[in-house]
Amino acid sequence: MFLFTVVLLTVLSGAGQAADGHTYRRTDPVTGQQLLCDRCPPGTRLGAHCTSSCETSCVPCGPGLYTEFWNYIPDCLRCDACSDHQRVVRPCNGTVNTVCECEAGFFWDQHFCRTHSQCKPGHGVKAAGTPHRDTMCELCADGHFADVRKMHAACVSHSACKTDEQLVMPGSRWHDNVCATCDHLTLKGLVDVFEPVLSGLHIQYGAPIERLQKLVHRRLRRKRFGKRAALRRDEGPVHETSEEVHLNLPSIVEESNLNHLADRIARIILRFQHRCNGSAPLTL
Ligand SMILES: *[C@@H]1O[C@H](CO)[C@@H](O)[C@H](O)[C@H]1NC(C)=O
Ligand SMILES: *[C@@H]1O[C@H](CO)[C@@H](O)[C@H](O)[C@H]1NC(C)=O
Repeated sequence: MFLFTVVLLTVLSGAGQAADGHTYRRTDPVTGQQLLCDRCPPGTRLGAHCTSSCETSCVPCGPGLYTEFWNYIPDCLRCDACSDHQRVVRPCNGTVNTVCECEAGFFWDQHFCRTHSQCKPGHGVKAAGTPHRDTMCELCADGHFADVRKMHAACVSHSACKTDEQLVMPGSRWHDNVCATCDHLTLKGLVDVFEPVLSGLHIQYGAPIERLQKLVHRRLRRKRFGKRAALRRDEGPVHETSEEVHLNLPSIVEESNLNHLADRIARIILRFQHRCNGSAPLTL
């Protein structure tokens, strides 16, 4: 609309441009006389051209209309309306058009406001999105991570474990170092300790947290009490099948990923337990 206005006014003013830009030339249709008519100021439009006896008559633009420049156009221009996910930065007031901007969390992308992108796992926000630009992301450097549980996290360095804690699982690009004290070795404690990892897996792969926890616990029991005990405690295959259906696991591939993850986590937990018990880790 703005461009259109500029083009229109350029064309109109080119027709009879006078030096000061506040007048235009016109031939009186009745007398054939050459006249120099006043233009109408911003906020008004032409009502009637000047004649040899009358000055130009101008009419104010009505509500929702505007003219930005000295003009002799017969109709004021229509104010733009802000579109979806835009807010008014400056309202139309008769002499300036509406100025719109994407609202918080959106940026202008050619023809509409789009949501700011989230950085991919392992990538942090380098520069936050603005109304005019999308989020800029960067791959986290070694020793740094961007918390996948947060919407727009920057890369920060892995935090050091507290003095009474041990490193259970080194941080990756998407989660912090996992630290714990030996007191955390209860089941609830372990879930808490691995929460950043588990919810990270959930966000990235849709790995169902509770299912994963179950798998981890089953493996821990199996490693501790032997396969028979684990099987006995896990009785009820019918129930398990219905549970899987309920969780809507889309494919065997995902299921085997879950098993793989559960294996890894169980192994990490066992290693940590051994360290706490002061015994050398078994080969698992
Ligand atoms: C409209 O707004 C512009 C910029 O904010 C200002 O310069 C101008 O005087 C205003 N016009 C009217 C008619 O209020
Ligand atoms: C470590 O010790 C605790 C309690 O003393 C015991 O329950 C657990 O099974 C032990 N873990 C390993 C891996 O030896």
